[in-house]
Amino acid sequence: MTVNAGTGTAASITGRGIVKTFGGFTAVDGLDLDIRSGEFVSLIGPSGCGKSTFMLMAAGLIPVSGGELLVDGKALTAPLTDIGIVFQDHLLLDFRTALDNVMLQAEFRGLPLGPAKARALELFAKLGISHAVDRYPKQLSGGMRQRVSIARALIHDPSVLMMDEPFGALDAITRTQIRHDLEMLWLETGKTVVFITHSIEEAIGLSDRVLVMSPTPGRVVDEIAIELPRPRPAHLGDYPSFNTYSDRIHEAFRRFGVIKY
Ligand SMILES: Nc1ncnc2c1ncn2[C@@H]1O[C@H](COP(=O)(O)OP(=O)(O)OP(=O)(O)O)[C@@H](O)[C@H]1O
Ligand SMILES: [Mg+2]
Repeated sequence: MTVNAGTGTAASITGRGIVKTFGGFTAVDGLDLDIRSGEFVSLIGPSGCGKSTFMLMAAGLIPVSGGELLVDGKALTAPLTDIGIVFQDHLLLDFRTALDNVMLQAEFRGLPLGPAKARALELFAKLGISHAVDRYPKQLSGGMRQRVSIARALIHDPSVLMMDEPFGALDAITRTQIRHDLEMLWLETGKTVVFITHSIEEAIGLSDRVLVMSPTPGRVVDEIAIELPRPRPAHLGDYPSFNTYSDRIHEAFRRFGVIKY
C-alpha cells in the first residue's frame, strides 16, 4: 500500500451504472449515485443487497465488473489511500493497547509518530475515551472499541470516511450517544462520510441524504434529502418530518417486498 497521509479535504464519489458480478452471480446491477464532497450519506438496504460490496469497490479494494466509479472525477484504478474505514467488526489487535492500535495505522503509513500520537490523543478526547488510551481491547466495552476504531480510521486525516454498519452490535442507548459524537466530529471536520446501516433512525439521524437500495442485485432506488437542523437531537420523533422520511424509506422497502406489512 502507498504510504501517505490524508489531505484533510473531502472527496466526491460518483457511480455510473456500476455492475459487480461474482462468477455467475450479479451482486450489484446498475448502481448510480453521487456523493458530494463533504456530504454525510447513508446507504440503507436489505441484507445481501450489495452495500459492503459497494464500499469495497468505492475504496478501490475490489474492481467493478462494469460501469464507472469516480473519486473526485477520476476513475479508481488502485486502492484509495486517502480514506479511513470502520468495519462492522472492530478488528483491533488484542495485544496492542487502544492507543497502540490507533498508532499502528500511523506506523503503517509512515506518519511522523510524535504529531500522530498528539492527534490520536486529541481524537480519543473528542470521542470521550481518553481514559481508555492504555487499555487493551478486551478491557473495553463494545462501544469503546468502536470509538477506538473511529479514531484509527481518522488518525491520518483522510478525505473520506467509510463506515460499514459500525454500530450494528451496540445497544440502543450506546448507539444514540455514539451517533451524536460522530455527528459532532463530522461537523467539525467536514469529511465525506459514506455510512452503511440497517437502521432507518440512524440513517435519518446522521445523514444529509439517505440512499435506499433495492434487494439483490443492488442499486439505488430512492434518494431522500434529510433537511433537519444539526446537531440533531437524540429523540428524532420530535420532528414531524422524521416520520415522513421514515415512511418513505419503509415504502421503498414495501415496494420491493422487503417489508411485507
Ligand atoms: N467475494 C464474494 N464472492 C461471492 N459472492 C459475494 C462475495 N462478496 C459478496 N458476495 C455476495 O454479494 C451479495 C452482496 O453482498 P454484500 O456483502 O455486499 O451485502 P450487504 O448488503 O453488505 O449485506 P449485509 O447487510 O448483510 O452486510 C451477497 O449475495 C453476497 O453473498
Ligand atoms: Mg455488509
